[in-house]
Amino acid sequence: MTAYDFSTARLVDEAGVDIILVGDSVAMVALGHENTLAVTMDEMVHHTRAVKRGVNSALLVGDMPFMSYHVSDAEAVANAGRFIKEGGAEAVKIEGGLRVVDKIRAIVQAGISVMGHVGLTPQSIHQFGGYRIQGKNHQSGRQIKKDALELQKAGAFCVVIEGVLSDLAEEITRELTIPTIGIGAGPHCDGQILVTNDMLGLNDDFSPKFVKKYADVGQIMKIAFATYIEEIQSGVFPAEEHTYNNQRKPLRKVVD
Ligand code: KIV
Repeated sequence: MTAYDFSTARLVDEAGVDIILVGDSVAMVALGHENTLAVTMDEMVHHTRAVKRGVNSALLVGDMPFMSYHVSDAEAVANAGRFIKEGGAEAVKIEGGLRVVDKIRAIVQAGISVMGHVGLTPQSIHQFGGYRIQGKNHQSGRQIKKDALELQKAGAFCVVIEGVLSDLAEEITRELTIPTIGIGAGPHCDGQILVTNDMLGLNDDFSPKFVKKYADVGQIMKIAFATYIEEIQSGVFPAEEHTYNNQRKPLRKVVD
């Protein structure tokens, strides 16, 4: 699952998930951007550090943001290093296939574990022309499979497969020796990931087919906020039990 702050990370970790990803989805679900492209390295490190404080047992993975690993191998290694040194992450995630294998090799050579990410990679939405299921025809399906195999060869320890047809994800999972983690990729991957805010129903505007809402926390929060306002206005809150009562002697009147 993903987490972006201390409190959520603690709950996710205590629930027993294996991996917590500080996803660049933070740009959309926590920072209100339209897509993931705007989030910066500094912001990602800031959120990773907060999440780290809430994690006891899960593997913590920092998601390398758009343009943090594209320019050169050296910059990719330096930014991956920031997730580890400053953020406290134990691994990083990189989007892309064949075109990022050099970066993955360089980062792995620096001693940092890398999670790959193929299929519908949100940092490439403008190239895709929007959030569209990938690998629908034979050629693009083959390319995604090739990408995943290249990531494995470059040293990735697992691969996220996002937004592809279930049978393609199944085929890739069968062929790879490293684990696959699916999101919108059907039930045949070795693991699954969902954006925590989506599975908790924190965003009414976003309900794609692949998300299962495990709780409507958004609705629970709205009811709590509205009740709070109402109780303040009606004088119900704060009540006796929320009040520090005056047990000290009254102040003496000061006389000139
Ligand atoms: O940013 C993110 O949350 C992700 C997951 C959806 C895999 O990349």
